[in-house]
Amino acid sequence: MSPKGESGLKKKGCCATNKCLIFLCFVVSLGITALIVVALLVMNVRGRFPPEQKWWQKTIVYQIYPRSFQDSDGDGIGDLNGIISRLDYFNYLGVDAIWISPVYESPMIDFGYDISNFTKVDPMFGSMENMKTLIKEAHARNLRVILDFVPNHSSNKHPWFIKSELREDPYTDYYIWHDTAPNNWHSVFGGSAWGWSDVRKQYYYHAFLPEQPDLNYRNPAVREEMKNVVDFWARTGIDGLRVDAIINLFESTNVSLNEPPTNLPDVTSEQWEYYDHLYTANLPEINDAIQEWSDVLRKYDNSDDDTDNSKFMVVEIYAVPSIRNAYYTNGADMPFNMDLVEGSYPSCNASCIKKLVEIEYNTLPEGKWPNFVMGNHDRSRLTSKRGITTSGKTYTNVLNMLLLTLRGTPTCYYGDELGMEDVDTISFEDTQDPYGLHFGTSAYKNFSRDPERTPMQWDESPQAGFTNSSHPWLPLNQNHTFINVQYEKNASHITPLKVYRALAKLRQEPAFLYGSFDFRYTDDNVISYVRSASGYSSYLVVINVGTETGTIDFKTPYDYQEGTVKVTTGNFDHEDYALDSTIKLDKIILQPAEGLVILLP
Ligand code: GLC
Ligand code: MG
Repeated sequence: MSPKGESGLKKKGCCATNKCLIFLCFVVSLGITALIVVALLVMNVRGRFPPEQKWWQKTIVYQIYPRSFQDSDGDGIGDLNGIISRLDYFNYLGVDAIWISPVYESPMIDFGYDISNFTKVDPMFGSMENMKTLIKEAHARNLRVILDFVPNHSSNKHPWFIKSELREDPYTDYYIWHDTAPNNWHSVFGGSAWGWSDVRKQYYYHAFLPEQPDLNYRNPAVREEMKNVVDFWARTGIDGLRVDAIINLFESTNVSLNEPPTNLPDVTSEQWEYYDHLYTANLPEINDAIQEWSDVLRKYDNSDDDTDNSKFMVVEIYAVPSIRNAYYTNGADMPFNMDLVEGSYPSCNASCIKKLVEIEYNTLPEGKWPNFVMGNHDRSRLTSKRGITTSGKTYTNVLNMLLLTLRGTPTCYYGDELGMEDVDTISFEDTQDPYGLHFGTSAYKNFSRDPERTPMQWDESPQAGFTNSSHPWLPLNQNHTFINVQYEKNASHITPLKVYRALAKLRQEPAFLYGSFDFRYTDDNVISYVRSASGYSSYLVVINVGTETGTIDFKTPYDYQEGTVKVTTGNFDHEDYALDSTIKLDKIILQPAEGLVILLP
């Protein structure tokens, strides 16, 4: 053996003893610690120490109505493989989370919101394998997948209901049964909420269609079943749940109580809105159920690496802040704030919109995160709601500009990034939506949700790139020849898609992600605000959502001299306000439906 063996080699180093090594380690770690401290201090001083934000606070949530997004098998109905084939679109768009409306096994009476198996994909949409591929492919693109969770009711074709009708235990009390229709409780879709079962010879409660019997949440076995459903999907790898119809989860056990009328104008006694739902909506017991689902989800939060894998839960609710904000405390991450769903109609002018935004920020419980929704599969499209200006412009770009620059998570409905419009020419005979059909030939248009559910407009080809079938399940909007992804992507001029994309990109800046929000000049036409995060660029957003031209001076009293246009709605030939041009802020003139995001110096 060479005398230089192991110990010989060691002796070659400059630090031969253990003591010396320990000392060396100590000095090196001290140095590293000092460097980290200095770096942190510098970051902090410059305000570059972003608050810890969860993924769902940083993304746009993009809602896909699966029947209408992309068909892959030529049956005229969208499906999971269709969605998979379009996943790159979200990277292009700058969206990091998709919410997919129900794709579970269903007789499709309410197009998937009537579920006959909560843990199975309907063959119309594909298979469980397809769902797993979708999740995997989405994650490979840094895209989160949020599924719809419909806990309030099942389909009347669900085995639980069929067995309940037969009084087969343990299913006998899985639903809410009575010998008579005991009261005036109403269905959201119109008419009595009590349906007759000819099998069981009893009435059952249904907050929605007769084909959607309400589950009995006072039965612990039902609670277990639905916890298992949440567990199943969390295990499958989804990132979050949008909880359907949360307010309807519980009803009073005292069925002798009739609900009083609201006396709202223009509401018929057939409508749900006719009654004040003291005994069938927003009961406090709902909190416990949400907490149970949340506890299940929390088991799947993965906090042992630095990627944020927390599971997200948002609950569907249309309500005033005092009611909806209560849902922040029961384990849900947030309740949808639907104020701008109504606030995007012309009846809500700029001052009214300002008020709605203020309400959200001012009533938000301590430490909670705001959010805004403008449209979904149950309401008119934002472009159709606000109409057009006298010069024929739509408000698509200003509304998207508003939604995407507010502080809080925006939820967008598919196609609204293109300015897709309602198809309001669907005849009663061609109407699919049971809500519309319930009100008959004369009134169906006031209720049908078909107009906002028409196929996604991908290109100008005869079926808009949505399907190979010549019979999509709902008619395409004829305007798909010029309102479509391909055209709006490649046009040489500014299009809604380009504006949306620019805004989605800008949203990733600290000023928009978590920066402060301060209103500036507002009147009945114009709304403006500044977003800023210390140490980073600040932006002035100024938009005209009104019907008259606005002239605004930001010099007096705000002392803004000039700024650079970073996003423009681009719907006017306005050389002065071209992208990247520096403009004086003492006199901004904005036409109706025109808006700018301006970088402040
Ligand atoms: C929710 C859904 C709606 C559905 C209803 C019943 O309100 O958004 O589309 O019809 O619940 O599930
Ligand atoms: Mg299909």
